Amino acid sequence: MDVSPSLLERYDRPVPRYTSYPTAPHFHAGVDAAHYRRWLAALPESETVSLYLHVPFCAEMCWYCGCHTKVAVRYAPIADYAATLKREIALVAGIIGRRAPVGRIHWGGGTPTQLAPDDFLDLMTVLRAHFDVRPHAEIAVEADPRTLDDARIRALAEAGVNRASLGVQDLNDRVQKAINRIQPFPRVAAAVEGLRGAGIGAVNMDLMYGLPYQTEADVRRTVDLVASLHPDRLAVFGYAHVPWMKTHQKMIREDALPGGLVRLRQARAAAEALAAHGYRPIGLDHFARPDDSLARAFDDGRLKRNFQGYTDDGAAILIGFGTSAIGQFPQGYVQNAVPFHAYDEAIAAGRLAVRRGVALAPEDRLRRAIIERLMCDMQADLAQLARAHGFPEDAFAAETAALAPMVADGLAEIAGSVVRITEAGRFFMRTVAAVFDGYLGTGRGRHSRAV
Ligand SMILES: C[S@@+](CC[C@H](N)C(=O)[O-])C[C@H]1O[C@@H](n2cnc3c(N)ncnc32)[C@H](O)[C@@H]1O
Ligand code: SF4
Repeated sequence: MDVSPSLLERYDRPVPRYTSYPTAPHFHAGVDAAHYRRWLAALPESETVSLYLHVPFCAEMCWYCGCHTKVAVRYAPIADYAATLKREIALVAGIIGRRAPVGRIHWGGGTPTQLAPDDFLDLMTVLRAHFDVRPHAEIAVEADPRTLDDARIRALAEAGVNRASLGVQDLNDRVQKAINRIQPFPRVAAAVEGLRGAGIGAVNMDLMYGLPYQTEADVRRTVDLVASLHPDRLAVFGYAHVPWMKTHQKMIREDALPGGLVRLRQARAAAEALAAHGYRPIGLDHFARPDDSLARAFDDGRLKRNFQGYTDDGAAILIGFGTSAIGQFPQGYVQNAVPFHAYDEAIAAGRLAVRRGVALAPEDRLRRAIIERLMCDMQADLAQLARAHGFPEDAFAAETAALAPMVADGLAEIAGSVVRITEAGRFFMRTVAAVFDGYLGTGRGRHSRAV
């Protein structure tokens, strides 16, 4: 089904990505380091947790970047940051009071591979000293192929990393120039070969659409090239243009950005090309080989959404380290200070660096469950979820009524108490999920477009 401009106009509204619920703009200073301390101390014994470490440094700035990162020309600030991370790890583990078992570690950024090989190895040693990193733990690292040299790959392998996620975005010269990210295909191929040669078998790649000067043909060509490297998973993100938050995005000429219809065609072109290469679509923007654990989690209804996107990580607790890192607990979410100096000062003084967060009310948990099932399974049984959370089965009568236009437009279907997002509605799933967001329109946050 091709989408009409009027349909796009109706539904391509700014909506959150729902990597958490409530979403980050609704975190507030009422949840602070004291909450975090209590939540850490209350960690159930023998509960397996996941860890996230944020490394906010890059060699150069990509003009599209929406991540919490900055350019580090000298290494000294990165070395200082590594030392601060080590202090934070010891501080948090001290509050937990034992070596908590860890099933997953995710290094994100920015570019964690900007850490010198010795610093990365040291940090992993410190993590293993303070946490019981299980023998089969998944240890994943986001890496930039442009700076991923042999020494770094060796360090990752030696540290036990078993999954790498490579930023690729687009492989066409014109687009690469416009986004300030020159990365020829042979560099990407060499990075994949290096990782696999070192025994890091699981490779993810990030692609993007909606970039300046990018065409549908560019998207297809990029997909065909990267598919020849057989990544296990891909994410295909729509460029979120938020220059009011990320001022370097002003380097991107707005008149070079594709409009809504073109963006939608690019997203579909990527999905079609990936399907032709044997990848299965997972949720809004992920693709996986059918034998990949993410595809299996989708089949089993175990797929989850977290700050890294889609995951098969079943852990209820995620502990975040580093500036801006978000932690997830049964009680709610916490986020470390975003300004670098505030994070650094807190940790240097032996204090937790959490500055804001949100405690979950029973209704938040229910709405979170509905939004997560819609974003993961493309369907949710409202009555069943309401019952499971102790709410009346018809708690969402108003929301169900609000879905009527989307049902009429073929984006969603309702059968009994089950809401299902159709294949035509896949790229609008955030808009369907937003109907169940109890905070949307309450003033905080300005989001990127739906498609
Ligand atoms: C932390 S980066 C990946 C690792 C490494 N820094 C790199 O770029 O190679 C995370 C990913 O977020 C995506 N991304 C960054 N800014 C974005 C934006 N404004 N809109 C959509 N996706 C974005 C890119 O696909 C990028 O690869
Ligand atoms: S996309 Fe990756 S490499 Fe580029 S600026 Fe953002 S975090 Fe850094």
